[in-house]
Amino acid sequence: EHLALWGGRFSSGPSPELARLSKSTQFDWRLADDDIAGSRAHARALGHAGLLTQDELARMEAALDELQRQVDSGEFAPIEDDEDEATALERGLLAITGDELGGKLRAGRSRNDQIATLIRMWMRRKARVIASDVLDLCDALMAQANAAGKTVMPGRTHMQHAQPVLLAHQLMAHVWPLLRDVSRLRDWDARCDASPYGSGALAGNTLGLDPTMVARELGFSTVTSNSIDGTAARDLVAEFAFINAMIGVDLSRLSEEIIIWNTQEFAFVTLHDSYSTGSSIMPQKKNPDIAELARGKAGRLIGDLTGLMATLKGLPTAYARDLQEDKEAVFDQVDTLEVVLPAFTGMVRTMQFDHERLEEQAPTGFALATDIAEWLVRNGVPFRHAHELSGACVKIAEGRGQELWDLTDDDYIGVFADFLPADIAVQVRDVLSTAGSVAARNGKGGTSPLRVREQIGQAHVDTEQL
Ligand code: ARG
Repeated sequence: EHLALWGGRFSSGPSPELARLSKSTQFDWRLADDDIAGSRAHARALGHAGLLTQDELARMEAALDELQRQVDSGEFAPIEDDEDEATALERGLLAITGDELGGKLRAGRSRNDQIATLIRMWMRRKARVIASDVLDLCDALMAQANAAGKTVMPGRTHMQHAQPVLLAHQLMAHVWPLLRDVSRLRDWDARCDASPYGSGALAGNTLGLDPTMVARELGFSTVTSNSIDGTAARDLVAEFAFINAMIGVDLSRLSEEIIIWNTQEFAFVTLHDSYSTGSSIMPQKKNPDIAELARGKAGRLIGDLTGLMATLKGLPTAYARDLQEDKEAVFDQVDTLEVVLPAFTGMVRTMQFDHERLEEQAPTGFALATDIAEWLVRNGVPFRHAHELSGACVKIAEGRGQELWDLTDDDYIGVFADFLPADIAVQVRDVLSTAGSVAARNGKGGTSPLRVREQIGQAHVDTEQL
């Protein structure tokens, strides 16, 4: 029975050790539905080419329907002796049709063009699920951005207080990369939109089968142009794996931020109880496990990509069994993202910011020093000097353990004396507010409330178009 696929020139079946190594049904069985769809299309191509009579085609289609039914109900499943999903399904089909009819289906195709087609079908379908999950997360972030209103928080570079920014601006900074990930999936899908079915093992088929018809039936708008490339290329799998890894990295960066914001020292955000975990020993603990798992799983998603790239490196360009390794990488990634994304979105949707604390922290750490320098520039002071003067103000404040707004009028008059008259110098206080600071950053892409509202609107438009 295990000789079913290549019995002719063999005098024995595979050794048990080989069978154990070779076996892939434990992971590739999830391609069974796609394989049956491929078989249906292939049967029609055989009929079209006159290699199955009308009657045979009708019986073949009925048998494939029955096989699908048995697969759906679990009545038919792989057994120990099946090498891969294709081997198993052939066994299932033959059991329904008998060898005579069922044995005709394999004409003109190989498991090489089959598997190359199936993985594309599977990835394209999953890409849509992932895109939709990522868009849900974007929606949750945008809802938080809307709810954040004009709340200002410390903007950081090098993790140091840098300039105040709107909380909404910071949240939206995580939306854009995610929207780009969705757009990556979209344009990747266009490249993936070609069917290798009909490539045979590598050189094409001699039977006059119409691969365009098969492609259309399987949801592809075209056929691969080179049968060797069609069966050997896995760059599309690697690219899909990259996008999944990138989504993981984007989630991880947001996770890191949420984890820090959620510490007692920051106390910027509180996570909902239903999206937090406790400790088995410390009764007071409430942990941000979703963010930590997302951050941790980014490593795994990257590992899947890296493993696949290493597998592909150095492979000759035609099918080699190494290529079987492409599947677990992306299966694992998709399984991972399918559990991470919904939990992550729920956490984001329900987290609550402490607006008062964010506002209070926003101007601290001399975060308005740039505003002083730029105010001086608007008053005609060259930036090089403005930078120094503002730095001098920081130095005074730091020395006294004060903030910039604690300096006296005389302090400012003294520091600016070489450049500005006293009555102008004291007006610096106008820019010593976070609201003034953010409002002033009103160029496109800036953190002023107007620009941020515009930005959220743009993100909504872009989302519609994705
Ligand atoms: N199971 C293989 C894979 O997933 C396809 C079978 C090709 N085997 C072969 N001996 N050509 O890549």
